[in-house]
Formats: sequence, structure tokens, C-alpha cells
Amino acid sequence: MYIFKRVSDLQNYLKQKQFEEKKIGFVPTMGALHLGHLTLLNEASLVNDIIVCSIFINPRQFEDTKDLLNYPNPIESDIEKLENLNCTVLFLPDNNEVYPCDHNMLNLDLGKLDKTMEGLHRPGHFKGVVEVVHRLLDIVNPDNLYMGQKDYQQFAIIKHMLKMIQSNVKIIRVPIVREPDGLAMSSRNIRLSIEGRKKASLISTSLLQAKEDANTLNVAAVKENAINFLNTHNIEIDYFEIVDGNTLQTIESFNQSDYVTACTTVRIDGVRLLDNIIIKEIVD
Ligand code: PAF
Repeated sequence: MYIFKRVSDLQNYLKQKQFEEKKIGFVPTMGALHLGHLTLLNEASLVNDIIVCSIFINPRQFEDTKDLLNYPNPIESDIEKLENLNCTVLFLPDNNEVYPCDHNMLNLDLGKLDKTMEGLHRPGHFKGVVEVVHRLLDIVNPDNLYMGQKDYQQFAIIKHMLKMIQSNVKIIRVPIVREPDGLAMSSRNIRLSIEGRKKASLISTSLLQAKEDANTLNVAAVKENAINFLNTHNIEIDYFEIVDGNTLQTIESFNQSDYVTACTTVRIDGVRLLDNIIIKEIVD
């Protein structure tokens, strides 16, 4: 695996590969790699000749400097994990490489996309994510971009960004990796108590039930059932929304959209846990 820290070195390498018409798949990360990331890399290895993974802890997507300073950075073990996979290139830039003095802030209107769900809890976060992904895409210029479904809102916002800038990059939504009891894998899960960990499996139960209920019930009833179920188990809900998969706006009827996702974030032991399920997706 090649490790490049400088944009110019990475681009020299990639230019040659592009000249050779190699397909480039890109997996942006902030490191602390877990099975979810590794699945993104595996998915990328299916159709690309070159797989570029970036590790960059993007300060612009943290609202709280304390969170930024506490963000894990196990770079040695991350490199080892990537070396054991089919990763071709690790891009490991510092802040000046990603945001040089002449870097122009991307001022993309996200409309209502970042004013709902996670966006309400983390003001400014998605603007920072869009900024860095846009910049990284500019540097890497891949054919395919791999994003996890786990952060559904992030995926939908990056998809919107690609559309707005008329990019040719294809975005691939990689399914959520789950523990055997259904809990979506996340680096936050280790912060749960034994009791909390048991309870956490009920998040996916509520989502699976919502998908099932959507066959017979209306949106309001599906949502009410899910919320009642989580409440019954004393799970604190930040939100449980049934939204259009592209606009992220709540829908009132399942006929309103061909692409519907149920998204939730709950708190267990004070840990925010995100999960979602695609209820309906009609691909044309
Ligand atoms: O999901 C993440 O790890 C980050 O938000 C991303 C997409 C790498 C941008 O910094």
C-alpha cells in the first residue's frame, strides 16, 4: 500500500493510473477504522482497480473543539488494517494540504437537508462534511465514491452535493453492518453498559417493525408504533422520522415518494446511537 501525505504526490500517482484508464474507488474516512469502514473498502474492491482511502480528521465538521481533541487517532492500527485489505493508497494529509491558504470555501446551499434530524443537533456539521468531501473529491478525482448507509443524512447530503455540482462521480450507498442481534456497528457501542447494550438491539427491532408495518399502516401509525415501542423500553428518542430518501423531509403518505427511509437517533447510557432502514426504494 502506498501512503501519500501530500496532494501533489497523490495526484502524480493517480494521474498515471487515470492515463492507464484504471477505475478509481474512493473511501473517505476520519480513521479509527472498524468493520463498517472495512466493508466500504471491500465493496470498493469489487469494481475498482485502485482503491484510495483517506484518513483526515476534519476540524470543520466538529462544532465542539473538545470532541475534536478527543477524537481517536489510532493511526498505526489503521494502517495495519488497511494493509490487510485491498487498499491501494492511503491518503493521509494534514490540515494545510486539505485547506491551503488559497482554498475557497464551498458555498453550497443545502436547503432544508441539513435543517432536520442530525442537522438540528449538530449545527454546521454537514456544511463541514460537504466542504471536506468536495475538496477530497477534487484531489482524488475518483470514478466511484463509497459512503455508509449508517450515516444516512450524510449520504443523502453528499449525493445532493454531487448533483448540484454536476459531478460525474458515482456515489455508492453501502449497507449498514450489524451485530448478530441487529445493533448497527459503531465505535460508540463500546461505551454502552451491559444493560444498555442489550437494550440497544431494540433500535433495529423498531426499524424492522416500521418496515413491516408500512405494508399495512399509514405513516403516522407506523411512526407512533415505533415511538411507543422505544418508549415502552425506556429508550430516550432524539427523533424517529419517516422521510423522503432524497429530500430528507418527512412524508405524510407512503404514496408521496418512491424512496422512503426511517431514520432514528436514540440515547442509551447517554450515548447517541443512529440507525435507519430503507422502507421503500423504487429504482427506475
Ligand atoms: O463519515 C465520516 O467519517 C466523515 O464524515 C467523512 C465522510 C470522512 C468526512 O470527513
